[in-house]
Amino acid sequence: MKVSNGAAPEKSLRITLLFSVNDGVGALDEALKVINALNVSLTRIESRPSSTSDWDYDFFVDFLASELATVETVVKSLEKVSGNVKVVSTGATNPAGNSTPWFPRKKSDLDSFADKVLEMGEELSSDHPGAKDPVYRARRAEITRIARTYRHGEPLPRIDYTEQEVATWGAVFRKLTAMYPTHACREHQYVFPLLVENCGYREDNIPQIEDITRFLKDCTGFTLRPVMGLLTSRDFLNGLAFRVFHSTQYVRHHSKPLYTPEPDCCHELLGHVPLFANQDFADFSQEIGLASLGASDEDIEKLATIYWFTVEFGLCKQGNEVKAFGAGLLSSFGELEYCLSDKPTTLPFDPSKAAVQKYPITDYQPVYFVAESFKDAKEKVREFARSLNRPFDVHYNPYTETVEILDTRDKMVKYAHNIKSDLQTLVNALEKL
Ligand SMILES: [Fe+2]
Repeated sequence: MKVSNGAAPEKSLRITLLFSVNDGVGALDEALKVINALNVSLTRIESRPSSTSDWDYDFFVDFLASELATVETVVKSLEKVSGNVKVVSTGATNPAGNSTPWFPRKKSDLDSFADKVLEMGEELSSDHPGAKDPVYRARRAEITRIARTYRHGEPLPRIDYTEQEVATWGAVFRKLTAMYPTHACREHQYVFPLLVENCGYREDNIPQIEDITRFLKDCTGFTLRPVMGLLTSRDFLNGLAFRVFHSTQYVRHHSKPLYTPEPDCCHELLGHVPLFANQDFADFSQEIGLASLGASDEDIEKLATIYWFTVEFGLCKQGNEVKAFGAGLLSSFGELEYCLSDKPTTLPFDPSKAAVQKYPITDYQPVYFVAESFKDAKEKVREFARSLNRPFDVHYNPYTETVEILDTRDKMVKYAHNIKSDLQTLVNALEKL
């Protein structure tokens, strides 16, 4: 429920509060009256059956505040008419001295990233190959506008690609698919023909993200969501926690089909998509995403660097050989050749080392990390995430597509019951073997 347009005063803090009530509507009305009396404008209200046995309903409210004193006043006032009042997240240090940035708790919360892009999107930098091409810029604006207005739950937008766009895609497709049999990891090679069969991956056709999403959902539950351009690391990684990959839909400029200074649909669909159909890779990606929820800026930087050295530029062992699995490699024929040559340095994948490794953005990488397997990489990232400075743990509930913060005994007991039920199913199945 949107209560106001959420126009943010400068340097505002984005606050999420939880409070619990018995006897739903009447109690909520009373709580809202208290908040209104303080002149606080809510940007969202969300209700759920309470996760604790002491209350009937939990309410989450988001609002913007210019200072922490306002938050304390709201908390104190709410405590008079409801219970279990907690600051779930703030955009700054909260009164308890902890720093928990706001993070999405359900898939539709990703809507709030829709018009937040760092660069590119509709505006192109002066050195972009399409910067001086008004036709390209207009087309680009058309496609990014579609991404900006897309909202969770709507059908994914289909783009009617032009002949020129298809020809650009075709040039990239031809060059890269010739290299995959010798350079791509076996998981990528296994999935690629399935994408040809199910999603229209062809030299003369740019696949649609709706068809890809339908396929990925069946394989691993991953989905694509259109995005205008580069998101912040935090927002992008937060999306992975929900098994959502933000994908651009525009095509690079036709004057340089084998070069792009930014992610475009050739990079996303050829480099990223195939591995999201692999269970271990999907789990690995979500693991990084879950670790990013509410993480400090410093930890986000570490996780984004791990993402860089794995999902974008990762290599992995396959028997006695090393192959590429990073999308930055699988979508760049030059670097795909180079990364498996004897020129760069290769190191065994260790998240604590990868997290602090320096890297160039515009050149080929001088250093690559080699994972033992996606499963091994996932375990190592999970272990690494435990060392990060976050005072709570989270669990993704695939039934409700929400993130649950495991910070009370009741929630942990409920989670343990779910695991117990899964284990019982496993025991039953094993006994029947
Ligand atoms: Fe990428």
